[in-house]
This record gives sequence, structure tokens and C-alpha cells, in this order.
Amino acid sequence: MSSSSAFEVRPLAGPLGAEVLGLDLSQPLSDAGFARLHRAHLDHHVLVIRDQHALTPAQQVALSARFGPLQRHVLKQFALPGHPEVLVVSNIVENGQPIGLGDAGHFWHSDLSYKPRPSLGSFLHAQELPAEGGDTLFANQHLAYETLPARLKDAVAGRFAEHWYLARYAELQQRSPWRPNLTPEQVAEVPPAVHPVVRTHPENGRPALFVSEHFTTRVLGLPDHESRALLDELFRHGTQPELVYRHRWRAGDLVFWDNRSVLHLAAGCPAGQRRRLYRTTIEGDVPA
Ligand code: SIN
Repeated sequence: MSSSSAFEVRPLAGPLGAEVLGLDLSQPLSDAGFARLHRAHLDHHVLVIRDQHALTPAQQVALSARFGPLQRHVLKQFALPGHPEVLVVSNIVENGQPIGLGDAGHFWHSDLSYKPRPSLGSFLHAQELPAEGGDTLFANQHLAYETLPARLKDAVAGRFAEHWYLARYAELQQRSPWRPNLTPEQVAEVPPAVHPVVRTHPENGRPALFVSEHFTTRVLGLPDHESRALLDELFRHGTQPELVYRHRWRAGDLVFWDNRSVLHLAAGCPAGQRRRLYRTTIEGDVPA
């Protein structure tokens, strides 16, 4: 395989996504190759880069850092040893201890939307995949905005919403072993953030819905019941099947998504099936 710019970008049928074929990211990527990958990411929102069997965590970190500064997850106990920028996403428990965050992506979300500068994009690299299940779903939030009924477009115009890491933390804690109690320092690291309900993508210029069932708690300036009803409508609209690509993982897959353009969800896998992936998360701009 080549590390040059001569790889293939093959759009997927559906509302988003492209496969990248014939690229070996364990080899140096030329500036021209990087520019093509960047362009494809902006155009397709989710890139499924096949056959990255030789890519090491250090190489994943270096590639991610070409797109911007890397963000470290507040659950530092799930960082890959020796690689603080890599979050282990895994349901595996060893010696009674989870080795990673097993319920990452349990609800639809955009990574780190609860930060003042949410994520630009995330890379997720398959290490160990279940024989059954374990898919990741992506929903196109540009199309979500474009297809909003006029009534809802009016309702969200100029509105801001609060995003909070802890919004559903207690609920997740009750159902899984992967959510440790947070230290006061960890709680202090993730205060609520406020962002526009519709943001303009800083690089492709397109509007996108920017709320999610995981982290968005309320729309500012509305009574609670109106805010709840509006958010529920937006969540339903933004994740309807017509907007969704379902990724079925293959060995060697490296998936790179744009958190400014899509929401994502981990579908889960049957108990007892091992799943382990490495995530790097790139910091983005202040949404506007
Ligand atoms: C995530 O939300 O970053 C994890 C997605 C997945 O495990 O499929």
C-alpha cells in the first residue's frame, strides 16, 4: 500500500461517509496526501480508512495531531498506558477492573460537546472486535438542519443550549461498571458549557444541528417543559434512519468522524463478546 496521495476515496451509498482504500497510515503521509484526507473528511464527514493493521497508537496520535491539539478525556483512568491522549474504548474487564470505557457512546452525542471548545473530530481504531454486534451509528447533522420543518427552524433560530458531561452520568453509573465516582477535581474539569443550537461548520460553512440526547440539558430562555419538548423533537428528527450510516467494523478499520457534522452512537454488543478500540480526539473551535 502507498503512503502517498494516490489512495481511493469511495463515497458510501447513503447520507454520509466514504471508504478510504489503498492507504497505509503506518507510513509517512505526504502533505498532498494529508490535504486529500482533510478534504475528504470535510466532504463526507465520516471516513472509514480500511486495513490499518500496522498503525501503532503513537502513529495514531501523531496523525491526529496534524489536525489540531489533542483533548484528553476526563476519565484519565481509561487512557492507554504510555499514551495519555488515547482513550481505550472497551467492555473488557481484567482482574475485576475495566480496561477502558465500556459504555462510551451509549447515547447519541458529539464528542466533548460539553467543553468550551468541543471536538473537531475523533479517530477510532479497531483493536479487538466482537463476532456479533459492536456497530457504530453516525447521523448527518447538516441534513438534520436542512430537513427541519420551518416551524422548528424558527424555534431554534438564535437559540443557545447547555451541554453538561454529568447530564446522564448517574443514569449510566446505575447500569454499567464503567463509570467510576468522579473526584472533585474531575467534576471541576467539566462544568456546563453553552453553545448555539445550530452551529456553522467553520471549514465547510454549512449549518448543522448541535444538540444531543447525551449531553444537552436545556435550551436557554425557554420554560423547562418547552425546552424539554423542543429538545426531544430535535433529538428524534436528528437521528431518524434516513440520516444515519451504520458502521459494521472490520479488522484494521480506522474511522475518522467530524464531530461538527455528525452525532454518533455505539450500538453495543452481547455480553461476553470482547470489544476494544483506541480513540483520539482533536480539539475544535468555539461553536458559532
Ligand atoms: C465513542 O462514542 O467514542 C465510542 C463509539 C463506539 O464505541 O462505537
